[in-house]
Amino acid sequence: MQKEPVLLNLKSVPHLVGEGILKRAVSHFAGYSKVFVLVDENTERFCLPVFQDKLPDIHFAGLIRTKSGESNKNMQSLSDIYEQLTHFKAGRDSLLINLGGGVITDMGGFAAATFKRGMDFVNVPTTLLGQVDAAIGSKTGVDFKEYKNQVGLFADAKAVIVDIDFLNTLDKRQLRSGFAEMLKYAFIMDVPLWEIMGNRPFDMLDSDLYRMVVRCVSDKIFIVEKDLRESGMRKLLNFGHTVGHALETFFLKADRPVTHGEAVAAGMICATRISARWPDFDCRSPEFIYEMIDRNFSRLVFSEENLPEIMRLMQQDKKTKAGKLHFTLLKKIGNAMQDVVVPEEKVEESLRFYLRN
Ligand SMILES: NC(=O)c1ccc[n+]([C@@H]2O[C@H](COP(=O)([O-])OP(=O)(O)OC[C@H]3O[C@@H](n4cnc5c(N)ncnc54)[C@H](O)[C@@H]3O)[C@@H](O)[C@H]2O)c1
Repeated sequence: MQKEPVLLNLKSVPHLVGEGILKRAVSHFAGYSKVFVLVDENTERFCLPVFQDKLPDIHFAGLIRTKSGESNKNMQSLSDIYEQLTHFKAGRDSLLINLGGGVITDMGGFAAATFKRGMDFVNVPTTLLGQVDAAIGSKTGVDFKEYKNQVGLFADAKAVIVDIDFLNTLDKRQLRSGFAEMLKYAFIMDVPLWEIMGNRPFDMLDSDLYRMVVRCVSDKIFIVEKDLRESGMRKLLNFGHTVGHALETFFLKADRPVTHGEAVAAGMICATRISARWPDFDCRSPEFIYEMIDRNFSRLVFSEENLPEIMRLMQQDKKTKAGKLHFTLLKKIGNAMQDVVVPEEKVEESLRFYLRN
């Protein structure tokens, strides 16, 4: 299968997708007085050498380090990043390259957009989840206390470079985490993507991975272009995320972190269950969705006793307005509806269904 590089524009932000595409992206790092790169310990070890090998002429004025993982996507890490940028005398004419997964692009984007009232940044996502979702669409931020993405802003990267070579060192669990977001695009808007997947588990999709990544990047761009600030259509992307975010926080607090994708996969089962029982919707074959998710993700382990805490966390979510839970539901595969107010009892029923079936 040919892997032709693809250039997609989101407003004026170029998104380059390809195998080895970084080599062709040199111009996006030029013209700055200083270039910095933000890494965590894993992307420093696995991705920085690849970056330097492909673009040996880029000189870094400093390596900005942060600790990996969602538990470090917080104000303390942000403060450490400002500290290092200050130490290296970064200025508004500097560039920050965010080299990593969604934690790095979310936090690095926010740091760059706020440091000295804003310096440029380029996202170079290195996880599948980052490549198909997190690095695209200008949402930046950090978690605050137990609340996900509580502090942040919309800020455009100067460019997003999706080089799938970085995925070679990503472990299976993290690859699958990104696959959950790919499934989301298929469910909410992309029947051809669903057909490419063809009921195969992720492990059997290697030869189609590139094609699927390109579809997902263009799906996300299509939506964000129409609704950057999430006043309407962008909420479609929240499919699985109302329950998913609550579960992600629940497990993080319990010191049993799950990946973003694992939490979203569980959330998609719940949202599908609610959709399947929603009057006037045509989501009549939810078992295809349950089966595809179960083929790729083990069920998360919690009990009915945890439901009050999970429901409480959902109440704190940004998607909850005036105490009402808002969901994206599926009318059928490839067709979703955003902003449906779902009574708490139905959400609890879906969580019980998740635990029992
Ligand atoms: N801004 C958005 O629109 C948006 C959308 C979806 C998700 N997100 C955010 O993204 C975050 C999750 O992102 P993630 O799943 O990429 O997690 P992550 O950034 O924590 O990365 C996962 C792990 O993989 C390691 N890693 C990264 N690249 C690697 C590579 N190439 N080889 C080996 N190891 C590598 C990281 O060090 C980390 O340990 C969450 O905080 C979520 O809220 C943001």
